Amino acid sequence: MTGDLSMRVLGIETSCDETGVAIYDSQEGLLANRLYSQAEMHAEFGGVVPELASRDHVRKILPLIKAVLDDCGMQKTELDGIAYTAGPGLMGALMVGGSLATALAFALEIPVLAVHHMEGHLLAPMLEASPPKFPFIALLVSGGHTQLVSVASVGAYRLLGESLDDAAGEAFDKTAKMLDLDYPGGPRLAATAERGHIERFKFPRPMTDRPGLDFSFSGLKTFTRNLIYDHSAENSLPDEQTICDICAGFQEAVVDTLVIKCLRALKQESLNTLVIAGGVSANQRLRSKLHQALASEHREVFYARHEFCTDNGAMIAYAGCQRLLAGEYNGLAITARPRWPLDSLKPPGEAF
Ligand code: KG4
Ligand code: ZN
Repeated sequence: MTGDLSMRVLGIETSCDETGVAIYDSQEGLLANRLYSQAEMHAEFGGVVPELASRDHVRKILPLIKAVLDDCGMQKTELDGIAYTAGPGLMGALMVGGSLATALAFALEIPVLAVHHMEGHLLAPMLEASPPKFPFIALLVSGGHTQLVSVASVGAYRLLGESLDDAAGEAFDKTAKMLDLDYPGGPRLAATAERGHIERFKFPRPMTDRPGLDFSFSGLKTFTRNLIYDHSAENSLPDEQTICDICAGFQEAVVDTLVIKCLRALKQESLNTLVIAGGVSANQRLRSKLHQALASEHREVFYARHEFCTDNGAMIAYAGCQRLLAGEYNGLAITARPRWPLDSLKPPGEAF
């Protein structure tokens, strides 16, 4: 896909609460990757505070760029292009990465490219030693999105279904908050679920009893709220084992629902390859239940290593590189699109 052309791309990710920077070489692969997570700062407030996120990106981004260049012994003048996350995400946070990337590219006289954050997630498994082959079904599960996408090639995306309310990651985070688990809730809830009994509470598997590939996760929050109410005294939380059991039941319901819809999508599109991407694809229970379900049908599931499931600069450098190689670039007007439908993208070079 990368052809003979060699290109070294700096990738910059600042769409939410992680400052991610990486350098990807079209011939040699990933050369350097660094991440600064603001999670600790936002934990105090129980969620991301957008203004604080922007300010922290401003502080961290240049030192991180300097660090990745040093990591691979490169000068900034050896870069051939810069890719930055232009959306979807928090407006102020996106503008930090976009401004810096565009100014740096202007100074270095190299092309700059606005990358779609979810395309970055979707292509992250391509950074692994045995990447998936096109065509495939992608399940994108992050804090802001839950989408099933039919992927013919880079940039050829057809949306098959999506969440009508909360995203899967958002449902994890909100449920964790109700149970007084620290931000970021998803991984905490998953860890707590390990000590719980799956069978004790039977959560619904929303929208699985009717045809279609859309999701709805907000009902699971209400179910959790009622369980908390039923198993605790007023204004308190249930006992520790009950909290573990609620986490286990909740996680099992989300995972089962995702598995059912993935199988349905693969069958509908007559495909055998599934890719899961985005923060929730780091979930161990989701990975193992998908392996089980797909192996029995001679189908295969692919995902990125843990650190490339959640937000990172490597996926942006990789996705940007595919498009920069095809001659795509943006002008000096900085692009920041808090909302940006994934299926409006075109294959590399075609948008030009
Ligand atoms: O992709 P990501 O880093 O950011 C967005 O683009 O939104 O995804 C973050 C989301 C959060 O909701 C987080 O709680 C969830 O992914 N997450 C998990 C796990 N790790 C991260 N959810 C469930 N289990 C996990 N192990
Ligand atoms: Zn993300």
